[in-house]
Amino acid sequence: MQVSIAMGDVAGKAALGGGAPACLDLEELLATRLLVQGNSGSGKSHLLRRLLEQSAQWVQQCVIDPEGDFVTLADKFGHVVVEAARTAEELARIAARIRRHRVSCVLNLEGLEADAQMRAAAAFLTGLFEAERDYWYPLLVVVDEAQLFAPAGAAEVSEEARRQSLAAMTNLMCRGRKRGLAGVIATQRLAKLAKNVAAEASNFLMGRTFLDIDMARAADLLGMERRQAEMFRDLSRGRFIALGPALSRRPLSIKIGAVETLARSGSPKLLPLPQAPQDAEQLIFTPAPAVAAPVMRRPPAAVPVMRPTEDILREVAALDSSAAAAEEGAAAEPALFPEIAAAAEEERRALFARLLRAIFVDKRAFYQTAAVLYQDFQVRCRIERVQGGLPALPEFRRLLAFARAGVGAEAEAQPLWPQACRLAESLSNEEVEARSVFLALAQAALLGAPCLGDKALARLYRTSSSRRVHSLLKHFEERGLMVVRADFSGKRIVTFPDLQIETAPGRPEAEDRIEPAADSTALTPAAQEENGAGAEEQQGEAGESLTEAEKPEAGDLAQESLPEAANTAAPLPLL
Ligand SMILES: Nc1ncnc2c1ncn2[C@@H]1O[C@H](COP(=O)(O)OP(=O)(O)OP(=O)(O)O)[C@@H](O)[C@H]1O
Ligand SMILES: [Mg+2]
Repeated sequence: MQVSIAMGDVAGKAALGGGAPACLDLEELLATRLLVQGNSGSGKSHLLRRLLEQSAQWVQQCVIDPEGDFVTLADKFGHVVVEAARTAEELARIAARIRRHRVSCVLNLEGLEADAQMRAAAAFLTGLFEAERDYWYPLLVVVDEAQLFAPAGAAEVSEEARRQSLAAMTNLMCRGRKRGLAGVIATQRLAKLAKNVAAEASNFLMGRTFLDIDMARAADLLGMERRQAEMFRDLSRGRFIALGPALSRRPLSIKIGAVETLARSGSPKLLPLPQAPQDAEQLIFTPAPAVAAPVMRRPPAAVPVMRPTEDILREVAALDSSAAAAEEGAAAEPALFPEIAAAAEEERRALFARLLRAIFVDKRAFYQTAAVLYQDFQVRCRIERVQGGLPALPEFRRLLAFARAGVGAEAEAQPLWPQACRLAESLSNEEVEARSVFLALAQAALLGAPCLGDKALARLYRTSSSRRVHSLLKHFEERGLMVVRADFSGKRIVTFPDLQIETAPGRPEAEDRIEPAADSTALTPAAQEENGAGAEEQQGEAGESLTEAEKPEAGDLAQESLPEAANTAAPLPLL
């Protein structure tokens, strides 16, 4: 059966056939598919609407509609509107039923993110494609803005969505004919449409096209001279060059006729402006009623931490020795003079802090695990002939976070510092690196210093990945510990809602310059003599002298998975 669809009129002089109806052979179209291209506003959607309206009574139709433009077909032609905000399984099931019951439909993708649009269209098209053989009736599948679903290059969506959608479009255009599917696709930019999808159409309607690259692609597809394709530039809205077995054997200029249903989106129309209100400035600049920024506070996620066995063994051993030492101390020094005991304890703590700071004079130490650093610390304590027991590993981890963060006396003297420490304590003791990031940022905020850059934060977090740093900051935000924002120049500011303080703006891409330990008490006098060099000099050397093997590997160093070379304790500057 031959069905001729009236698409409009042949344009041009009457003597050359102008004014004659421009027809489209529907049966031929089902076998040979159609590609429509034209810049925005050239009239593609209007053309598709004309085609759908004129053929509605002859063939089942399905429109893949990214803008929700075609839902108006429902009223006049009875198309079922399928809202795409469903699961992939649901969409596939609906598609199968659409084929079975031969109902025309519009898949409305309006309001979905690009990624979700692609997945939904893929699920639906695949459902149509995989219908049982008994239901392979002819179905016109019209895809507007086809470059969204079959992009030529990498799209700004997930690879998975792109792959699914491209596969579904390829099936439609390359393998759909036997299953009764006839693809009609429209695109603004031929160069943005995957070549294999475009190449399967044998009929073309080319509208106004400005870009040379699109014109060249159009000329190639139509088998025209590129010079000839220049004519696409001058086409007015609603005019298309038609070519193909279902349209015309020679390029024919046609003017698309009127439509019966309305598009939901039209072209912008000029409207006279209203009288400028007297109080325009007030209307625009009056601040919105103050809304207290809600601070999201979630209970800390219970992350099961796999602890290395050697860590636990070392901790048990340390507990033993400190218990024994405590017993010894208690016997030697009954709590007769508590103030002396307290002063001694204070002194010991100061000594521990100093020894820990000394460890981080060497930049390589930032990439060592807590367990390795604990060994280093024990050695230093022995050299210093520290009396009494050493801190056990959990306590050591606590102290370590402060030392990693490079917390100095100035921050410690701030009235808000104890509160900042309490917030840091809410992080698990196992998360030494995360704590140190938190403390370093809190210190910057307390001192009004710029927010640390990604590289410095990555060093503190014992990683080389900025991505991991960003996830950590996000994690802090989710726990309501801080709010991270950027100013218009892209500088980062971290606010601590509980402390009501924030860092100065800092560039995320800033170089990581480790400040020398404020009091180079970091080095014991004996060691200073031996080394004959200041901490500053050492630090520079240590930082720069990292060999490739010693540098942290890109990726996840925070998982206690340092390469062998970095894990074997770096040569200690003090020994
Ligand atoms: N042949 C025509 N006759 C009358 N009006 C038309 C014709 N073609 C297009 N228009 C009108 O021009 C405007 C733009 O057309 P349309 O929406 O079809 O463009 P488009 O190529 O689909 O653009 P976009 O790529 O931005 O979606 C619409 O308001 C439409 O009604
Ligand atoms: Mg359109």
